[in-house]
Amino acid sequence: MTVTERGSVSTLATYVEAYEPDIDRVLISAEEIQAKLAEMGERISQDYAGRRLLLVGVLKGAFVVMADLARYVRLPLEFDFMAVSSYGAATKTSGVVRILKDLDHDLEGLDVLVVEDIVDSGLTLKYLLKNLAGRKPASLEVAALLRKEGIQQVNLDIRYTGFEIPNEFVVGYGLDFAERFRNLPYIATLRPEAYADA
Ligand code: IMP
Ligand code: MG
Repeated sequence: MTVTERGSVSTLATYVEAYEPDIDRVLISAEEIQAKLAEMGERISQDYAGRRLLLVGVLKGAFVVMADLARYVRLPLEFDFMAVSSYGAATKTSGVVRILKDLDHDLEGLDVLVVEDIVDSGLTLKYLLKNLAGRKPASLEVAALLRKEGIQQVNLDIRYTGFEIPNEFVVGYGLDFAERFRNLPYIATLRPEAYADA
């Protein structure tokens, strides 16, 4: 796979030499991600005109999606972040969610759009939505860049979805394995050896 096929977006790094031995294949290129976010941003711009939009990001994975998606939204908006416990270096979901950092905003009367990197089992999101709904926002919706096909354990209404991907562990564009790979501008799978070394 050449640097060009991975996709380059202006001056973003598309080639991180130290990651190379661990990368298996690129599922979604940088250009495909940006084109999709532009579409999602356009829909959001239409849907939220005249409202008080608050983007809520779930750290850490969502920070990259959030930064780019927000710049495709042609409306005033505000940002807030939450941190919840994840499953560390493990690649399986535990269903256990703990709030490590709460929002700064009072949500009452705000149009809240939760921005997620990936919806896997959906357990994290389900918990968060229930928690946020209790704070009386004017509206509550979700934008997720990725959604794993067929394995959602819970029924979730995701208003804006970027890509459906196969049930494989992916990294890049905010998504990590053992905290690495978040700075790749594309979404990729890892070689089995990458997990063995962690
Ligand atoms: P869920 O609760 O199973 O939907 O997973 C929620 C979180 O797990 C996501 O926000 C990610 O941080 C992480 N996660 C799930 N699948 C992947 C993956 O394929 N790569 C990296 N992180 C993942
Ligand atoms: Mg993670």
